[in-house]
Amino acid sequence: MSDKHSSFIKTPKQLVIVVGLAFAITIALVVLLSQLVTGVRSPGNRDDQTGVLNRIKPVGEVTIADATAPQAGMTGEQVYQDVCKTCHEAGLVGAPKLGDKGAWAPRIKRGIDALYASAINGKDQMPPKGGNRNLADIDVQRGVVYMANRSGGSFNEPPAVPAPAVATTSTSTAPVATTAPAAAVTAGAAPPAATGAARPGVPLDLKAGEALMQKDGCAACHGIDKKIVGPAYVDVAAKYNGDAGAQAKLAQKIKAGGAGVWGQVPMPPNPQVPDDDIKALVSWILALKK
Ligand code: HEC
Ligand code: HEC
Repeated sequence: MSDKHSSFIKTPKQLVIVVGLAFAITIALVVLLSQLVTGVRSPGNRDDQTGVLNRIKPVGEVTIADATAPQAGMTGEQVYQDVCKTCHEAGLVGAPKLGDKGAWAPRIKRGIDALYASAINGKDQMPPKGGNRNLADIDVQRGVVYMANRSGGSFNEPPAVPAPAVATTSTSTAPVATTAPAAAVTAGAAPPAATGAARPGVPLDLKAGEALMQKDGCAACHGIDKKIVGPAYVDVAAKYNGDAGAQAKLAQKIKAGGAGVWGQVPMPPNPQVPDDDIKALVSWILALKK
């Protein structure tokens, strides 16, 4: 009787095995397919993850179209979406995940400066600036604040830097000598803070200087009497006290950026800041007292 419908399933036990096998194969196929589609591998294997990183890296690198100039003016969230998410969303290669308060708490405790430094200079498996060297430091910092604040921190996001204005401010010509910087600055006749613009030759008082450093984006990295990313301005004043060449040297450095005087963290170039502003700022900084 069994000759026509011959089947190798002869007993209930065999039936169970066949059904079970069919089920297992289907699931395996679905898993394989979904890995193919999403490109996600099982977590836990560092080599695997680095492999993923290497494959997605070039994509991350081409996303910033204007490759030459450091880009400033992205929001923290944009920076996160563009660059940091790659690792910090899923916790790749040991990155603390966005929103994982447990993983962030000990880091946040070390202070925002330490986090800025790690993100800008790189740390362990994290390349400098998350691998995108075209990011301006300040954008990296906004990315840091964005992540930290969504993971238990409460830091102030560095203020937006005004978009680079007309790029034709006579840049790296030899700085015009403004002589005797310190002597020129006397408290008193100063433009009202609210204008926020430097008038050549008019010394700034504390408030006007503060307003100008806000307007020109310096305050994101500098405090008057406290180190942020860059040195406290009173410390700059103390360092160059009596140095006649300081005015020209510092104006040049602010324009062009540079590192190594106060540590490894560089100051990015500030091409968008008008020369008059820089002159006024440097005079003001050099006249500050502790
Ligand atoms: C290629 C992967 C990767 C990318 C991209 C990446 N990170 Fe990270 N990040 C890591 C890893 C890994 C760690 C943990 C390093 C450690 O503490 O050992 C980390 C840690 C951090 C920390 C904590 C540092 C500390 O000192 O505790 C901050 C802040 C941070 N990242 C910010 C950023 C920002 C901002 C970006 C985007 C601009 C970014 N990361 C992009 C992998 C990455
Ligand atoms: C993105 C952060 C950042 C911004 C924005 C920034 N600075 Fe700096 N600044 C730094 C860092 C970091 C240093 C230390 C560089 C070094 O060690 O040589 C520095 C150094 C300086 C110094 C001392 C330079 C020296 O050689 O001793 C002066 C003066 C200064 N900044 C003024 C300014 C002014 C004015 C502005 C705004 C127009 C500004 N900075 C904007 C980060 C910044």
